[in-house]
Amino acid sequence: MTDTGADSKSLATARHFLGRPVLLRFDRPAGSHHPTHGYRYPINYGFVPCTLAPDGAELDGYYLGSTTPMSWASGICVAIVHRLHDDDDKLVVVRSGHPDPDDAAIAAAVEFQEDRERYVIVRPGPPTDRTAMPDTTNLTFRTPTEDDHARVLAVVGDWWGGLGGDAGARQRAALLPRLFFQHFTDTSIVVEERGELVGFLIGFLSQSRPDEAYIHFVGVSPDLHGRGLGRELYRRFFDTARRHGRKVVRAITSDTNTGSQAFHARMGFTVSSATYPDYDGAGMTRVTFERVLD
Ligand SMILES: CC(C)(COP(=O)(O)OP(=O)(O)OC[C@H]1O[C@@H](n2cnc3c(N)ncnc32)[C@H](O)[C@@H]1OP(=O)(O)O)[C@@H](O)C(=O)NCCC(=O)NCCS
Repeated sequence: MTDTGADSKSLATARHFLGRPVLLRFDRPAGSHHPTHGYRYPINYGFVPCTLAPDGAELDGYYLGSTTPMSWASGICVAIVHRLHDDDDKLVVVRSGHPDPDDAAIAAAVEFQEDRERYVIVRPGPPTDRTAMPDTTNLTFRTPTEDDHARVLAVVGDWWGGLGGDAGARQRAALLPRLFFQHFTDTSIVVEERGELVGFLIGFLSQSRPDEAYIHFVGVSPDLHGRGLGRELYRRFFDTARRHGRKVVRAITSDTNTGSQAFHARMGFTVSSATYPDYDGAGMTRVTFERVLD
């Protein structure tokens, strides 16, 4: 099936996720029934938290690959069911590393709710190898200098996809004062591709807890999401922490940053506190993680 001309609003929203990692929460787990129409959901069906679709609710998604009822799952968005008569497109998400379903498989999976004549399946443009690391020959990993402070601040709005609006952007900038680029550089990393910043990790060895290290901030350019750069940054930081005899790495994220929560789960972190109200001050709820270094 082919792509159509101008994007509807929901298609424009959905395209942001195409070919990228995404977390779905399932309000309609496999085996449940539609509350008013009564039909059964043969697969897990839900939404991407913190998104806004034209109908005023979150962007919806089908999860293919497991019919075990689940409350959430992360995976890769391999396609969009683009509705032709209704501005209410749906993501098609599969478990990372699984082969992409062909159009017939998608059609069969969604037919309980989609009329075959009333949608087309939209795929990512150029084929990408999702499991491959970005070509590291073009990437430079180094410790930051003070000059990197402004460069990092310049990307924390875009790279976080506007999460939390202006208040969220201000909070993030406030969490990255210059001191991190002066006093914590040995254990932090910036990544460049042909001189352009494409990733960074700000982390340190705890001064007060000799067994622990802490990842304060991590960001990857959206163009490289889902290509293993976040994993590579964590791998490098874990190695540094181990070399210094650290046994545990800690991190926190905001309760609304579900992408970060899924990423940390994939990096082997366990949740120490699922929601910790007022962790960083009034109204600043955080999720706290820890990972024991092997
Ligand atoms: C979170 C972030 C650093 C991940 O970087 P990345 O390079 O895209 O991550 P990777 O490609 O290395 O992914 C590693 C694993 O995490 C999963 N993952 C990453 N982002 C995910 C997301 N948003 N939703 C679900 N899973 C995700 C990947 O699917 C992959 O899983 P796999 O091991 O099963 O293949 C990046 O998305 C980012 O910069 N986000 C905005 C900033 C942010 O939220 N930072 C964290 C809080 S400080």
